[in-house]
Amino acid sequence: MSGSYVHGYRPREHERLQDQAGTLVDLLHSDTAYPRGSRVLEAGCGVGAQTVTLARRSPEARFTSVDVSADSIAEARRRIEGAGLTNVEFRQADIFDLPFEAGSFDHVFVCFVLEHLARPVEALAALDGLLAPGGTITVIEGDHGSAYFHPDSAAAHAAIQCQIELQGRAGGNALIGRQLYPLMASAGFGAVRVLPRMVYVDSSRPELVDGFTRRTFTAMIEGVRDPAIAAGLIEPARFDAGVRDLHRTTEADGVFCYTFFKGVGDKRR
Ligand SMILES: C[S@@+](CC[C@H](N)C(=O)[O-])C[C@H]1O[C@@H](n2cnc3c(N)ncnc32)[C@H](O)[C@@H]1O
Repeated sequence: MSGSYVHGYRPREHERLQDQAGTLVDLLHSDTAYPRGSRVLEAGCGVGAQTVTLARRSPEARFTSVDVSADSIAEARRRIEGAGLTNVEFRQADIFDLPFEAGSFDHVFVCFVLEHLARPVEALAALDGLLAPGGTITVIEGDHGSAYFHPDSAAAHAAIQCQIELQGRAGGNALIGRQLYPLMASAGFGAVRVLPRMVYVDSSRPELVDGFTRRTFTAMIEGVRDPAIAAGLIEPARFDAGVRDLHRTTEADGVFCYTFFKGVGDKRR
């Protein structure tokens, strides 16, 4: 695997990625559809959380979904079969060494993958090489620095900062969303447009309180408790207070905001 990846394989993480995909489907995917007969490469499909949505929304496109993890591919295949979808093929492969000829795809889709790679521009350039003339790429990434909330809490920001720091130490970048435009432009894509997608959660939207604030974002921060403490980044009591304060934002008077970044671009050459 080229590039470090700190989470994604444990059952709880699978569940978190499914929750994230289910809650955010409209926000992230409403403007993504692929025409009949088009060949789409999904790079880093994980357990298939986005794959099911993509394949369902574009039933006449043909998807090839790849991931470096054989376990994730097996789980993604089960989910696609369970959903009764037949327009997806899976391959275990590394983005930096994909077993496809140049120009094999009309579209590439990448979601929550660049944040884990030490060389995101190289990854994008490799994917560009697989696009046929006139092809397009869609990239979606988060940015944990975009999280703000009410009531505000220094301890909660400190706990979030632990996740950002650990992901950086593993070679990734939890703040990558804000860099999507320069990364895609550096990789050689043309007509790059970045569309920020803000998740706004208050108690009038209970499905987002549960599906996003609680089970996606806060669950992710809770997941770094042990490594953050082991690395000496934070005292246990302060981390626990930060997590408590994130949960506090799910109460009746709480508010939680987060921004995803969706970039689209064309193959230039
Ligand atoms: C956070 S998951 C996102 C999965 C999926 N795209 C989604 O949105 O739910 C990141 C995925 O990227 C995969 N990945 C990381 N580095 C990779 C590489 N070099 N080649 C292929 N897949 C990679 C991981 O195995 C993991 O499944």
